[in-house]
Amino acid sequence: MSPSAKRRPFIAGNWKLFKTAAETVQYIRALKKLMKKGPEVDVALAPPFTALESAVKAASGSTIAIAAQNVFWEEEGAFTGEIAPGMLKALSVGLAIVGHSERRQYFGETDQTVNRRIKAALAAGLDAIVCIGETLEEREGKKTKRVLSSQISKGLAGLTREDGLRLTIAYEPVWAIGTGKTATPDMAQDAHQYIRRQLEKIFDKKVANSVRIQYGGSVKPDNAAELMAQPDIDGALVGGASLKPDVFFKIINFKGA
Ligand code: PGA
Repeated sequence: MSPSAKRRPFIAGNWKLFKTAAETVQYIRALKKLMKKGPEVDVALAPPFTALESAVKAASGSTIAIAAQNVFWEEEGAFTGEIAPGMLKALSVGLAIVGHSERRQYFGETDQTVNRRIKAALAAGLDAIVCIGETLEEREGKKTKRVLSSQISKGLAGLTREDGLRLTIAYEPVWAIGTGKTATPDMAQDAHQYIRRQLEKIFDKKVANSVRIQYGGSVKPDNAAELMAQPDIDGALVGGASLKPDVFFKIINFKGA
């Protein structure tokens, strides 16, 4: 693929357990002003569930998409504490993050539950950002590719080509999340290229070439451009550096337009 045919960049902010509804509205107002000049990238923000409704309203009239940080696989039932895909759709949320490493690490998420969540999200009309990535121990044990291939084949099992076209993959090496350690552009490119090859195996070349693969793990204004310059890095999933609108805008505006 020629560089000019590269996929449109997609940069998403994952706020994790930060910000009330009021803080969310303030942030989005500020980001909208900064984005007036409109860099050529797709942008999404994932506030906590409690701020989604305010976020959707505050973002209306802008190109900022609002995402949930998780989604359950049943539409209703006795599942205390869960949020159904249809509930998100009813708020005009169109996107959900699935399988973030913090969900896997602290809340018992597995490739099987990730698979159920993706299927339910897509069936309800939500697109999904699917997170994968190896731990430090796995990288040091030279198991990175084995882990990625297993997360992809199990997490995306049973999805059709059409489903595949509605996914974004976020490659987030667990050792780089919130640690200030970033994968080098070469390391990240190597993983992204491998992920794209796995997508080609389970879907086909067209899907593999269309799906955007975000890098996540200590993305900051000063490393975004070199990561984004890699041929298979199509965007970023940003945690800490997405919490301030001016800092996040510098990442969105990585080309310095
Ligand atoms: P970080 O988080 O940017 O704070 O490292 C990234 C993520 O967890 O998505």
